[in-house]
Parts: sequence; structure tokens; C-alpha cells
Amino acid sequence: MRPYDPSLDDADPGWRDRFLIPPYAAPLDYPDAPGSAYPDVAYLAGNSLGLKPRATRDALMVEFDRWATWGVEGQLSGPRPWKDYHLALTDPAARLVGALPHEVVVMNSLTVNIHLLLATFYRPHGSRTKIVMEDIVFPSDRYAIDSHVGWHGLDADANVVRLRPRPGEDILRADDVVQAIRDLGDEVAVVFLSAVNYLTGEWLDMPAITAAGHEVGAMVGWDLAHAAGNVPMSLHDWDVDFATWCSYKYLNSGPGSLAGCFIHERHVRDTSLPRLAGWWGTRSDLRFRMDPHFDPPPTADAWQVSNPPIFAMAPVQVSLEMFDEVGMSVLRERSLRLTRYLRELLDEVAADLPAGAMQVVTPEDPNRHGCQLSVRFTRDIHEIAALLRDLDGVIADTRNPDIIRFAPVPLYSTYLDCWRVADALHRRLS
Ligand SMILES: Cc1ncc(COP(=O)(O)O)c(C=O)c1O
Repeated sequence: MRPYDPSLDDADPGWRDRFLIPPYAAPLDYPDAPGSAYPDVAYLAGNSLGLKPRATRDALMVEFDRWATWGVEGQLSGPRPWKDYHLALTDPAARLVGALPHEVVVMNSLTVNIHLLLATFYRPHGSRTKIVMEDIVFPSDRYAIDSHVGWHGLDADANVVRLRPRPGEDILRADDVVQAIRDLGDEVAVVFLSAVNYLTGEWLDMPAITAAGHEVGAMVGWDLAHAAGNVPMSLHDWDVDFATWCSYKYLNSGPGSLAGCFIHERHVRDTSLPRLAGWWGTRSDLRFRMDPHFDPPPTADAWQVSNPPIFAMAPVQVSLEMFDEVGMSVLRERSLRLTRYLRELLDEVAADLPAGAMQVVTPEDPNRHGCQLSVRFTRDIHEIAALLRDLDGVIADTRNPDIIRFAPVPLYSTYLDCWRVADALHRRLS
């Protein structure tokens, strides 16, 4: 395998100094473990939980202090009243996903938003009852979708269409997805897919699939958990009906942090749409009048239910400001450089191993992947991941039965991180 070339990181440093990188600690009985050549871990798990920006602590402290100083008056008074705190997140969140500001709101967690959005957009009637999704999907999406079908008194087995890759293949072909939607025609109520697949790292052809759903008269929604902050999107122009994403992966807003939500302009204008309502969804100027009448604004804010956790919002703001400052297109370019480098190194490692022992399953086409590369192993993945973590200081995550995911994140990952992954795999598997 080629040696590490420090000029790569010198020429393309990213924004690593804005983050705290977890330190590496060698096992007590193996103080000379290869990882101890480095002070920090090689963190390739930003697709699972992004790292902490340095600025987050201060942003949180500001709100803690405001709470101490203002008490309940902080809702309506002071430099940035909590009542409308979320509005500062709207514009940068909209820019992140290619939306208009009134189409976006930051609220709740991802699966909760899937439920709220399906309450509005899954309205089965007559023979139009089916939801199209992938078979290889994050379990929470499956549970949410199945439970909605059941909520309407329908059978999930008969009404959820689970798309599978062709036999012997790992990834869905966009043409097959489009064809499946066309074949089902007016039986499709909703198409709900993951933009970037959590297991394979495949980025689906969102515009083509959205158009196919609309051709048959269906609503089209996307789970952007692995896409937001990872790949550039134009949700408004692609005519997506609804979407939601979490902010603890590529958006580095902390464990369990808030989710974003997109609802296309044509739907937010329709204030008569059915929804599961709460007081934060009524017009902001009327909310504190305690009016019994629910009066939603013509914006995505109308889908809010409860007053938001300000201490969870402050980290989201830090993150979105960073994305605004750096810009998604600049990040994407660096992301493609890093993944290309990692893939080349992984191919070099695989070439030294028995055929099939290690294989990248993420599509090679740059239009079909983000920064995650999913690698299949014939050896036990939990054993490999534990060795990488303990001895080499490489943090990545396993997904049963046979995949380890490595995500060089363009904000803070380095070429050295990528090289450490390949070097460690070479050492552990050869
Ligand atoms: C694709 C996908 N959907 C849903 C979830 C669940 O998210 P939450 O726990 O925020 O609802 C995750 C979490 O990682 C995910 O990756």
C-alpha cells in the first residue's frame, strides 16, 4: 500500500481546527498499539454522530445565562426571545437543502417528523393506498411507515411495497425504482425513500424518482438523514412534496439533536391540510393570546406542535452558520476528493487480500454517493471494528450482517484519517 503523503493535507486542510477530535488511548496491556502514533482517533463515524464544534459550548452557555437572567421573560424579551428563536435557523436550513425559507422548519426528531408528515401526506383512499419504500431501510422508517398503514386500518404487508436491488446486486437502480412506481400507477399514495441509504451509502436519483411519483399522482417524501449536510440538494426545484432530516450526523449538532423538515410551498399555502396540531403551529402573533381557534400560518411552521427545546437549537445554529460560511458546494468538492482517495486506498488493500474478502458496495459514480463508503467483509465485522478501534484508533461503525461504514466528513476529516483506515485494515486483514 502506498505511504501517507502529508502534502495532501497541507494542500487541502478543511475546517478541522473548529472541531474537538476525540483523543486516542491505547489499551493498558498494549501501550505501543499502532494508534498511539497519533494523539487523536481517526474519526470516520460522522455519518452516525458528527463531532462537536468548538463554538457549541459558548452558544449553549449564552442560553443558559439568558435563562438565569431573564427567567420566563426570555420567551418574549431580551436580545433573542425564545418564542421565535427557531426562525433564525430557518434560512440557513433552507439553503442547506435547496428550499425556500417558508418551506422549512427545525423541530422534533426525525421519526417524529416522519409521523407528522405522514399524518398530512398519507391519506389512503379508494385503491390509492400503497406506500413505496426500500426493503433495505433504517428500521425506524419501516416501523413508522408500517404503523401509519395500520393506523388507517390497512395491512402493511399488502400496502407497503418494499423495493429490493436486483438479485446479486447491492444497490437500487433508479430506473427500476421509476419502473416499479409506474407499474403500480394509481395504487401509489406515497413514495417515501431514503435519499442516501444508511447501509449502502447509495444516493438515489431524487429528481427522477420524484417526477415518477408525481406522474402517477402520488406524494413523494424523502428521509434525508444521510443526505443533509452531505450532498447538495434542490428540494424546491425538484418538486419534492416533503422531507425530513436529523442534525446529529453531518450537521454536528449533538446526540439526539433536532430535525429539519421540508414541506413544499404548494402545500404550506394550503392551510386547510389535515395535520396533528399543537399550539406552536398556530400563528406566532396569536399564540400567546390563548385563542381556542387554531390558525396556522402559510409556512412549514404550521407543522410545529410543541414549544422547542432552546438548548438543542443553539448547537443547530452553530452548525448551520458553519455550513453557510463554508458553503455546500465547496464542502461537496472536498468530500469527493476525500472519498476518491479513500476508495483508491481501499482498492489497494483489497487487491492484497483473497478475492471478495473486502469489497466497497457504495456506487462509484460521484452522482450516486455522498461521503460514506460502505465496505463488505467476509470476516466478522464486529471483530474487525473492535481491533480497528482499540489498536489503530479508527472509529467506524458496523451494520449487520457484514458492512462497516467509513465516512470521511469534509468539514473535519483528513487524508491522514483515510490513510489510517486503509493501513489498519491492511494490517488486520492481511
Ligand atoms: C435513515 C434514518 N432514519 C431514521 C433514523 C432515526 O432517527 P431519530 O432517532 O432521530 O428519529 C435514523 C437514525 O440514525 C436514520 O439514519
